[in-house]
Amino acid sequence: MPLWECNVTTVTLTPYEWQTITTERLSLRTLTEADIPALHSWMSDPEVVRYMLYEPRSLEVVTQKVAEYSSSTRLAAAGDYVQPAIVVDGRAVGTMYLKIESEDDLTAEIGWALAREAQGKGYAREAATAILELAFGTLGLHRVFAELDPRNLASVALCERLGMRHEAHFVENMWFKGEWADTGIYGMLDREWTAARG
Ligand SMILES: CC(C)(COP(=O)(O)OP(=O)(O)OC[C@H]1O[C@@H](n2cnc3c(N)ncnc32)[C@H](O)[C@@H]1OP(=O)(O)O)[C@@H](O)C(=O)NCCC(=O)NCCS
Repeated sequence: MPLWECNVTTVTLTPYEWQTITTERLSLRTLTEADIPALHSWMSDPEVVRYMLYEPRSLEVVTQKVAEYSSSTRLAAAGDYVQPAIVVDGRAVGTMYLKIESEDDLTAEIGWALAREAQGKGYAREAATAILELAFGTLGLHRVFAELDPRNLASVALCERLGMRHEAHFVENMWFKGEWADTGIYGMLDREWTAARG
């Protein structure tokens, strides 16, 4: 055996095909065409998308995005992602996001967004907890991180509530909506998730 192979231990991601997740107050399910009006109502809201990587979206763009998101259902390799609807009382009040960043490093990125009227009720936390359970439990990932604009205090607070660690703060690393903006990184490891869950 060549020397460079001696210390190689393989870590593997368990491939996953998206299935609806149900929690106490909501469900996370694949977006459908019927969700387009609900999604458009908040994806076109300047306040909701203030710190998102896009400008308020037209109905046409939302229609296109729903088609894209709903066809991405497998998590097996870098670049694979799911973006299920957060459904409360039958309405898609937001979306969660989980993208495999590296299958070799068992790392994924998590993201979230909620319509204004659905914020401040603990829905994002409930949905994110279910996604973290999927990431660490079902997929067997090692690390999940979130990237955000540090001015987005609601997103920072959510990371902290979930028990994610502040890992990095990049200063003016990004030209964002007409100005230089900072980026914050929050992360969590599988062992930290297990410890937090008791
Ligand atoms: C980031 C975002 C998802 C956070 O949503 P959120 O609703 O504030 O987050 P949570 O689900 O953790 O809810 C926490 C709030 O609900 C309250 N709450 C009410 N009932 C609750 C319950 N049963 N359980 C838990 N929290 C509850 C909490 O007290 C807290 O209120 P506070 O913010 O006044 O302290 C939301 O602000 C958002 O969608 N922003 C726009 C999109 C965006 O910027 N996305 C992130 C890009 S990085």
